[in-house]
Amino acid sequence: MLLQDVKGRRYLITLEAGATFHTHKGRLAHDQLIGSAEGTVARTDMGQKLLVLRPTLADWVVKMPRGAQVIYPKVLALMVMAADVQPGMTVAEAGTGSGALSIALLQALAPGGRLHSFERRPDFADQARRNVERWFGKPPDGFELHEGDVVEGIGTVGPLDRVLLDLLEPWLVVPGAAEAVRPGGVLVCFVATVPQVMRLAEALESSARFGLVETSEAIFRPWHVDGLAVRPEHRMVGHTGFLVSARRVDGPWPSPGRVP
Ligand SMILES: C[S@@+](CC[C@H](N)C(=O)[O-])C[C@H]1O[C@@H](n2cnc3c(N)ncnc32)[C@H](O)[C@@H]1O
Repeated sequence: MLLQDVKGRRYLITLEAGATFHTHKGRLAHDQLIGSAEGTVARTDMGQKLLVLRPTLADWVVKMPRGAQVIYPKVLALMVMAADVQPGMTVAEAGTGSGALSIALLQALAPGGRLHSFERRPDFADQARRNVERWFGKPPDGFELHEGDVVEGIGTVGPLDRVLLDLLEPWLVVPGAAEAVRPGGVLVCFVATVPQVMRLAEALESSARFGLVETSEAIFRPWHVDGLAVRPEHRMVGHTGFLVSARRVDGPWPSPGRVP
C-alpha cells in the first residue's frame, strides 16, 4: 500500500497481518488497513492522518528496491509510445537493470506478448525478477529473463517486433538488432549523453537497415497550482536523457533533416 501524510511524504509498505507501520508521528497496525477500501484516511496512534491507496506503477517504480538506476515513469511512458508496443508482440529489451522498463513493457504487451529481457549482471537480474514478480503478484506470462550479453543473445530470440535499449553502448547492439527485428519494426534507445546520441545515430545510419532515425530530449516541468500562485515549480529534474528511435527498413533511407 502507499501511505501519504498531509505533508506529501509517501511510504510504500507491504501489508502483513500482525505487523506495525512506524512513523515519527505514531504507529499504525497493518490489521487496520487489511480489508479497508482504497482512498480512505487512517490515523496513527498519535493522530497523524495517512491517506491509503494502492500504488500505481509510477509509485512502485520509484520506490522499489533497485540495483541499477531505473528509467523514470514519465520516460517509460514515452518509450512505450515511441516503440508503439502492442498486445501480442515479441519484444527484446536490455539491460533489464531493476526491471522498471520490463514491467511497463509487460503491461503493454499483455495479453499474448513475449518479452525477452537481457541482463549481464546476475545480481541485477535477480533483483529485477523479484521486482517484476512482486508487481504482478506472480511470474508474469511471456517474460523471459536472459542472464547474459544482449550483443550475443539478441540473434537467438528473433524475429522481433520491437527492441528497447537502456545501456551504455547501444550501438554495439545495432548489427544484431538489424538481423533480429522484422522490417517495419521499431528500435528505441534511452541514452544520457550527447556523444552516445552521436555514436548511436551514426551506427544506425551506416547500417543501412534502420531509417527514420529521430532524437528527442525528455524534459518535464512540474507546475505549482495553488489559488493565484500558478507557476512552474522552483525545482525540476534538469536532465534525464535522450530518446533515439528508428524503424527497420530494407535499404538506406535518410533521416528527417538529412533529406537533400
Ligand atoms: C541503466 S540500467 C537499465 C535500467 C532498466 N532499464 C530499468 O528501468 O530498471 C543498465 C543495465 O544494462 C546492463 N547492461 C549493460 N550492457 C549490457 C549488455 N551488453 N548486455 C546486457 N546487459 C547490459 C547493466 O548491467 C545495467 O544493469
